[in-house]
Amino acid sequence: MKIGILGSGLMGGKLGILFSRAGHDVVFSYARSDQKLKRLARDAKGSARAGSPGEAVRDADAVLLAVHWLRVADVLKQAGDLSGKVVVTCSLPMNADDTALVIGRTTSGAEELAKKIRRAKVVSAFGTVPSEVFFSVFEARRKARRPSLAYCGDDSRAKAIAATLISDIGFEPVDAGPLRIARYMEPFALLMGQLAYEGDQGPEVAYRFERYA
Ligand SMILES: NC(=O)c1ccc[n+]([C@@H]2O[C@H](COP(=O)([O-])OP(=O)(O)OC[C@H]3O[C@@H](n4cnc5c(N)ncnc54)[C@H](OP(=O)(O)O)[C@@H]3O)[C@@H](O)[C@H]2O)c1
Repeated sequence: MKIGILGSGLMGGKLGILFSRAGHDVVFSYARSDQKLKRLARDAKGSARAGSPGEAVRDADAVLLAVHWLRVADVLKQAGDLSGKVVVTCSLPMNADDTALVIGRTTSGAEELAKKIRRAKVVSAFGTVPSEVFFSVFEARRKARRPSLAYCGDDSRAKAIAATLISDIGFEPVDAGPLRIARYMEPFALLMGQLAYEGDQGPEVAYRFERYA
């Protein structure tokens, strides 16, 4: 697939590299320096390149939105028309110092994003994982037991694309349901962040859904 990365920081940079290593064509965009985007494209080793947000979106089969909540409006403006595009978001609706969700309970960042880009197909995924673990999960992708990664959305084709990307980088995709379930996934992502960065678990903390019986 052709994947456009909107936001090439901790999440977008690592996920873009791994999508490329998994065989996808990746365009890295939206960082404060073009040099960084070019370096990521080199590190990705596959057929990856640096571009503008508009170029990242133009021919993309899927777009990863990976910017701070305060930068969403700006990156969407630069990206241009997203009609019909699959937009996978890991962007959490956080305040400026990343200490709290600014919306929740009756809506979510993913649902508010879908209202902003009504003609795109939004899937919420990857936000429940600390970025530090992506490479080691990818390295271990041939092992039998993979960590789960929950995703949700309202469009079945978009969800199938997200599930493929999740699986390609070493996780077990778990369909959590429609996009409104992001209301529960986003606070869950904060719990994972709390365990990873504030507790004594470290970022390699993983979750795996098992049946009880
Ligand atoms: N990090 C995690 O483990 C994690 C886990 C779950 C969810 N999330 C969510 O994922 C989203 C992205 O997080 P992140 O940690 O990847 O953030 P990040 O490392 O700060 O990346 C954000 C990207 O936006 C770019 N950017 C910021 N301001 C810009 C500007 N004025 N012009 C152009 N580019 C600009 C940054 O550029 P530079 O590269 O130049 O800094 C960077 O590439 C957030 O919503 C976060 O809540 C993160």
